[in-house]
Amino acid sequence: MSDPFVWSAEPPDPLYHAPPSEPPRYSRCFIDQSAVIGEGTYIWHFAVILAGVVIGDHSSVGAHAEIGRGSRIGAHTRIGHGVFLPAGTQIGHHVFIGPGVIAADDKYPRVEHPTYLAQPPQIDDYASIGAGAIILPGVHVGSGAVIGAGAIVTHDVSSHALVYGVPAREFPPDGDTLR
Ligand SMILES: CC(C)(COP(=O)(O)OP(=O)(O)OC[C@H]1O[C@@H](n2cnc3c(N)ncnc32)[C@H](O)[C@@H]1OP(=O)(O)O)[C@@H](O)C(=O)NCCC(=O)NCCS
Repeated sequence: MSDPFVWSAEPPDPLYHAPPSEPPRYSRCFIDQSAVIGEGTYIWHFAVILAGVVIGDHSSVGAHAEIGRGSRIGAHTRIGHGVFLPAGTQIGHHVFIGPGVIAADDKYPRVEHPTYLAQPPQIDDYASIGAGAIILPGVHVGSGAVIGAGAIVTHDVSSHALVYGVPAREFPPDGDTLR
């Protein structure tokens, strides 16, 4: 390890030593050696990027976020501060994941669960997830969907839908009877 600001293995990237005018692309974070981090993507302090993760170009992962094993994140996607994404999460391009968003993958969690069945979320291109939302196991968020801050998302969200509340419900975007 050649840089004291990175705890894990050096990412295989020639831009590793950013010019002084730019923030460092990887700082005091853990990036598993097998992870692939795209060009121009920033990983902020104390983020944890586990084995087999692939992140596209020009994305960012905020401080204290954890990206589970084998997750795939597209390009131009923003993962906010303190986000938790379980193993196998699939996230598209231009996705906004607000600070404190948590996605779960085990509906009935137990230590050493004998019938553990991982159900990671899938979040499609251009979706936006508001701060502090919780995405329950197996939920599929369609492209361009918007999830309000603090929502608990228990069912799939259609493309371009707006949902919020606890549990999250869909609200029409044009201000009719529900708004
Ligand atoms: C969901 C959201 C997009 C709705 O915006 P909007 O369509 O402009 O809705 P309005 O602000 O007009 O609110 C409509 C109603 O829904 C309620 N509401 C709005 N957002 C809500 C939310 N996240 N959870 C529960 N209720 C919400 C409002 O109180 C209002 O109810 P009222 O008519 O009884 O007062 C927005 O409020 C939101 O949560 N954005 C995410 C913000 C965020 O987390 N950004 C990332 C971090 S910077």
